[in-house]
Amino acid sequence: MTKILNPNLNSDLHEAVDILKKGGVVALPTETVYGLAADASNENGIRKIFYAKRRPANHPLILHINSFDNLNKYVTNIPLCVEILAKKFWPGPLTILLSKSSFVSDLVTGGSDKVAIRVPSNKFFQKVLEMGDFGIVAPSANLHKKLSPTKSEHVFRQLNGSIDAILDGGSCKIGIESTIVDCTSENLKILRSGPILKNDLEMLLNIEIEDVSSSNHNNVSGSMKEHYKPNKYVYIFDKNSIKNIIDNKKSTIIFYSDYIDESVKDFKKIRMSKDPLEYGRLIYSALYEADIDDSEIILIEDLPKNEEWLAINDRIRRML
Ligand code: TXA
Ligand code: MG
Repeated sequence: MTKILNPNLNSDLHEAVDILKKGGVVALPTETVYGLAADASNENGIRKIFYAKRRPANHPLILHINSFDNLNKYVTNIPLCVEILAKKFWPGPLTILLSKSSFVSDLVTGGSDKVAIRVPSNKFFQKVLEMGDFGIVAPSANLHKKLSPTKSEHVFRQLNGSIDAILDGGSCKIGIESTIVDCTSENLKILRSGPILKNDLEMLLNIEIEDVSSSNHNNVSGSMKEHYKPNKYVYIFDKNSIKNIIDNKKSTIIFYSDYIDESVKDFKKIRMSKDPLEYGRLIYSALYEADIDDSEIILIEDLPKNEEWLAINDRIRRML
């Protein structure tokens, strides 16, 4: 049985750190989604992450550190653009890919000579990093290819019994995984779209950045064609297609437009915000809810296509 720890109790925070130091795995809240954490210098702990998630060993893990000042330990070179990005976006939902130093185990990077690093802003995660005085590797705390968790209950439902503990820090504030930017060459590339937009990065650095997030890389879990999936089938609908889709299946409808409320009766409906930040914060929760109710399929209203909605569209496209 997995233990639930309370991050407001110092004794529980110590327990989380102790478990990690001994090579155990603990789900920790971040501002994006819950991560399944291990001490980055403990290979037993790292192996347990792959085992618990049933994640292929060549899928690299993000390394979380408590501040930019510790970055040089883990990488061979810090380009100026990374200093600028870190100053503006760390702590926060930006993951930066750099050439790894020999201090980073090949288990973390799946054999690659590059490591993905971020400084999370969640205060409980920060406390654990400081108390342990270590780096923490953490993929999202879900089974491979399944929905990312934004509440401790989501983690519990997927991983109870196969991880040591969950630090219950409530709901994640952002709800969508970090933006990943590859800074290993002069031509920066976005590997995964996320809360920090391409335009934010381009404006700050005054350069053009290529977004390669929609191409499929089989060892970048978040770039696989199928990922982030609920157990039920998911379909997208819009005003034109809704009538056909809901004909004879029991559906749960995730929507944001007013016309749905008026025109669709007799189905379970989950109303979402029209604001992309608020929508993003709650979408995984809505999907978890829809996934365990007694409907047969999940219908998601088609979303706007502008940049603020890009990361959400990306996640939903991979569920279809
Ligand atoms: O917001 C987030 O990034 C969350 C929280 C927990 O920090 N983490 C997260 O981890 O989403 P994960 O493992 O579910 O997704 C990380 C993505 C994966 O697609 C992984 O393949 C890619 O980052 N990645 C990690 N290290 C990499 C590397 N060295 N080279 C290329 N891609 C890498
Ligand atoms: Mg993930």
